[in-house]
Amino acid sequence: MCGIVGYIGKEQAAPILLDGLDKLEYRGYDSAGIAVFDGETIQLAKARGRLKVLREMTHGGEMLPGTCGIGHTRWATHGIPSDTNAHPHFNGTESIAVVHNGIIENYLKIKKQLQEKGYEFVSETDTEVVAHLLDYYYKGNPLEAITRMMHRVEGSYALGIMFKEHPGKLYAVRKDSPLIVGRAQGGSLIASDVPAVLKYTRNVYFIQNEEIVCLEEDRLNFFNVDSDPIEKEPVTIQWDVSAAEKAGYEHFMLKEIYEQPKAVLDTLNPRIRDGKIEIEELGMTDEEIRSIRKIFIVACGSAYHTGVTAKYVFEGLARIPVEVDLASEFRYRNPILDEETMLIVVSQSGETADTLAALREAKMRGVRTLGIVNVVGSSIAREADNVMYTWAGPEIAVATTKAYSTQLIAEYLLAMKFAQVRGTVSQEEIDEMICDLKELPVHISMLLDHKEKLQRFANRYVAAKDIFFIGRGIDYAISLEGSLKLKEISYIHSEAYAAGELKHGTISLIEEGTLVAAVLTQEDLYKKMLSNVVEVKTRGAFLLAVTNAGNTEVEKAADYVIYIPKTNKYFTNSLAVIPLQLFGYYVALGKGCDVDKPRNLAKSVTVE
Ligand code: M6R
Repeated sequence: MCGIVGYIGKEQAAPILLDGLDKLEYRGYDSAGIAVFDGETIQLAKARGRLKVLREMTHGGEMLPGTCGIGHTRWATHGIPSDTNAHPHFNGTESIAVVHNGIIENYLKIKKQLQEKGYEFVSETDTEVVAHLLDYYYKGNPLEAITRMMHRVEGSYALGIMFKEHPGKLYAVRKDSPLIVGRAQGGSLIASDVPAVLKYTRNVYFIQNEEIVCLEEDRLNFFNVDSDPIEKEPVTIQWDVSAAEKAGYEHFMLKEIYEQPKAVLDTLNPRIRDGKIEIEELGMTDEEIRSIRKIFIVACGSAYHTGVTAKYVFEGLARIPVEVDLASEFRYRNPILDEETMLIVVSQSGETADTLAALREAKMRGVRTLGIVNVVGSSIAREADNVMYTWAGPEIAVATTKAYSTQLIAEYLLAMKFAQVRGTVSQEEIDEMICDLKELPVHISMLLDHKEKLQRFANRYVAAKDIFFIGRGIDYAISLEGSLKLKEISYIHSEAYAAGELKHGTISLIEEGTLVAAVLTQEDLYKKMLSNVVEVKTRGAFLLAVTNAGNTEVEKAADYVIYIPKTNKYFTNSLAVIPLQLFGYYVALGKGCDVDKPRNLAKSVTVE
C-alpha cells in the first residue's frame, strides 16, 4: 500500500525522498510524487507509473531544490492511477502540501461541505479533502489545524504535511496506518517503514495512533490529539541496510527464499532451551493454558494458510478445537467468543487492516489475544496482549516466503507447548519433535540445492492457462500456499483443492496437458491421494508430485516427482513449500513478470 517519506535538514531533500521511496517500492504502487519546499515555494512533481518516471522527470530530484520535502508512492483506492490523483496534494493556494497513506472514509461528506464553502477539487482522491480541510482550519497555527482536522476525519491515515508559512518545520500524524520518525545527523525523517530511513539512522520512533510529530532539522516534538506535548523513546533497529538489499540475488524473492534456513533457525532457537519449549512471550501460566477450550487463528493471505496448517497441528497434538478465519470475514460473522477462547492473529507486516480489526474486535470482547508478527513495533505487535515475533528479518518481496516459513515454526512451537502442558503428548514425543524441528533448516537447504531442476521444469509451464494444486489434510494447506504463490506473481490462474473434493466439480476443468501439482506427504493419506492422482492422470493431467523420500509408488502415475526429506508428519509443510515457492518464482521469471512487485498487489495491506 502507499508509502510516505519526508525529510527536513541540511541536505537537498529530493534525492533523499527518491531514495526513501525506492526502499518503499516493495509496498506496491502505481504512481509516485514528491513536493519540495525551498523556503519560498513548494514545488511538486508527480507521475503515474514507476519511480523511474519521476526520477527522469526531475533529473534525479535536481529540478526541485530545497531542504524540506515529502514524497509518496500511491496504490490507488479512490480514483484511477493517474498523474492528477498521484500525491502530494495541495490546498487551493498551494501553501499546504499533503501525502497520505490510508483511507478517509467520510471524505465525500466533507468534500461536499467544503465545495459548498467554495473549495475546488482537482483530483478524485480522498486525500485532497485533507489538504483543503487543513486550509479551512488553518489560522496561523499548524498544530491547531491538524488536531481539528483529526477530529473531523474518519478512517485511517499516516500524513506528511508542509505549511508554506512555516519553513523549517515538517508535520506528520497517524491513525491506523504505519508511520515512523527518525533523527539523523543533520536532519529528521518520516517514513512508512524502517528501510526508507535506515541509510541515515537506526534510531526511530514508532508513532502511535493519534500522535502528531513536528520535525525540525535538529529536533522532534511530539504531541497528542489535544496538542499536549508528549515524550517518546526511540527504538534502535538491530538489522542493517544489507538485510533490506538484494545481496547479488536477481530478486528479493529469491534472496528471501534462500534466507529460510536461517530465518527458521532464528525463530526456533530462542524458544528451545535445554530440550524444552520455552515461549516466555506467551505470557500464560500452565493453568491458563489448560483453561483454553478453543482457539481462533485469524489472518489474511499466506498468513491465513499457515493458520490452516496450524489447525491440524494444534488439534492433532494439543486436542484443542481450532477455527481458522480469514480476517476480513471474522469480524463480520459475530463469532462466538468467551473467556475460554484464545485468538491468535498472524501477520508478517503487523499492519494488515483486516487482521488488526479482527484483533481489536476480539480484545473488545474480552478475549485473550496473541500476535505472531514479524515487524517489530508494528500495530498488531503493540496491540495484542502478547506478541511472539517471527525472526525472519525484513521481507521486501510482495510474495511472502521466509515470513510464511517462520510463522509455521511459531505455530508448531505453540501447539507443542500447549500439548506438553495439557499432557496430550508424551515428553518422548516432544523430544523427537524438537529433533525434527532442529533438522528443518538443513533439509530446507538441501531442497534449495535442486533449484536448477525446478527452473527447467517451471520453464515448460510459462504458457500454462490453469494449474491445480491438490492435497489432503496438511497437504491441502500447503496446496493453498503453492497455488497463491504461483498465481500472485505469474498471473497464471491456479486453484488449490482438497484432493477428495476435486471430483465434485472441478475435475471437469482437467484436460489433456493441464498441470496438476499433487502434494502427498501424509503417510496415512498416501493411498487415498494416489487414487486422486490417478483420477486426474486418467483425464489427461500432467502430474507434478511432491512427496516424502521413499514414496516411489507415485512415479507410476506422476510425470515429475520431487522428494522431500522425512520429517514429523506435522512439519512437512515446511519442506514441501520450498519446491512450490521455487516453482512459482521460476514460472514468473520465465514469463518476464515483475516478480518482487506483482501488479495490483501491495506488501502491506493497510486498507480493509
Ligand atoms: O502482512 P501480513 O502477513 O498480514 O499479510 C497478509 C497477506 O496480505 C499476505 O500474506 C499476502 O497474501 C502475500 N501476498 C502472500 O504472498
